This record gives sequence, C-alpha cells and structure tokens, in this order.
Amino acid sequence: MNGKQAAALKAVEYIQDGMIVGLGTGSTAYWAIEYTAQRIARGLHITAVATSEATAAIAAEKGIVISGIEEVDHIDIDIDGADEADSSLNLIKGGGGALLREKIVAKASRRFIVIADESKLVATLGKFPLPVEVIPFGWQHTARHITALGCSNALRYKDGKLFVTDNGNYILDCSFNQITNAPLLNAQLNGIAGVVDNGLFINMAERVIIGSADGSVKEYTR
Ligand code: A5P
Repeated sequence: MNGKQAAALKAVEYIQDGMIVGLGTGSTAYWAIEYTAQRIARGLHITAVATSEATAAIAAEKGIVISGIEEVDHIDIDIDGADEADSSLNLIKGGGGALLREKIVAKASRRFIVIADESKLVATLGKFPLPVEVIPFGWQHTARHITALGCSNALRYKDGKLFVTDNGNYILDCSFNQITNAPLLNAQLNGIAGVVDNGLFINMAERVIIGSADGSVKEYTR
C-alpha cells in the first residue's frame, strides 16, 4: 500500500449506505473509486456522481452506476485528490484538467474530503503551476490579463496535442511560484473575462487525509 492508497482507504470509510457520493479525478481519487467499488460489491448502496468523463469511465468499468449531477439536488460526500494543500486546507487542483467539474461537485457537497500523499502538503501554495480554465475565444488576450497578475503561463498540451477540457475549454498553467493571498488571487482570476474558473479551492475542504508509504494516515480538519 502506498500513501495514495492509504488516504483513499481511510476516506472511503466516511461513505455510508444511501449516500450520494462525488467521485474525484486523478491517480489518488482512482483508489477511492476502487475501494468504493469494493464496498459496493460487499453490499453498500450509493448514488455516484463523477467529476470528469475519465472518472465516469473508470467507475463504469468497476461496476459503479454514475448519475448525472442534474439528477441529484445535493451530494453528501465528495472524495477527491489535490495537487497542493496548505495548513489552512486551501488547495490547488486541476493537474488533471478537471478543476471546473471538481469545483462544481465539491461546492454541491455537504462534506468535501481531500486525499493525498505527503508530497502534496506545502507551506505556501503556488509551486505547482495553477491551472486556469479559459474559453478558447480570445484566449491569448485572457492569458495577457492573467500574466498581469504576476505569473508566466502556458497553454496546456498533452501527448503533443492541445488539451481540451470536458467542457470544451483550454487550460493555462500559471506559474506564480508563491501564492501569498489565495482568496484575493482567486477573486482576481475569476474576474477576468474569458476565465471560467481556476484551480484554487479556498475554504472548501472539510478534511485533508494524508497517507504515508507505511500505510498510516494523518487527518487535518479546519
Ligand atoms: C484533477 O483535475 C486534479 O484536480 C486532481 O485531483 C489532482 O491533479 C491530483 O491528482 P493526483 O491524485 O493524480 O496527484
């Protein structure tokens, strides 16, 4: 068991029978999907909502029926990964490009539980380039406005191809290096025309579960 698996295994314990569950995206959330599928095979009943097309496909492979977010009026618990988490449980997400759906699902959730290994804990957010989802129309102009906030940024490519999100948008990866006022930056970014949303998740996580390679976990709450 590695740290990601340990964190995921612990998080899945918070799922109770009958809950509406948000399934996250990425290599850590993968394990939460796996352990949820194992609990379902042992008799757990849940309604599941996915944070990306990729997660919906993985869940379906494991026999988890996915409901559309429009079919539920709330989500009880959302379990998702992060690229960085600080001591206030503020996060950078979107390394996998799913930040918008992840934020919509997390905001609809009564409990948002973040899972990660120790490498994701940071003193200050920003070393990981902040993903910003932008509308394709005029993205060069949007990028210039973002640059004026004090970062360099680059359009995301994956496997040599322009990366397009599940929502048909582009991602600008923005290197701020140190984000000293995350709430302010979040507001500034989302105030720029052309920005759909960004990967800062402020005051959203109820709990961050950090798993270690020896299988132990530490839980941080606000
Ligand atoms: C997906 O868009 C992301 O927000 C992921 O949750 C984040 O990148 C963490 O991914 P890993 O668990 O693969 O590191």
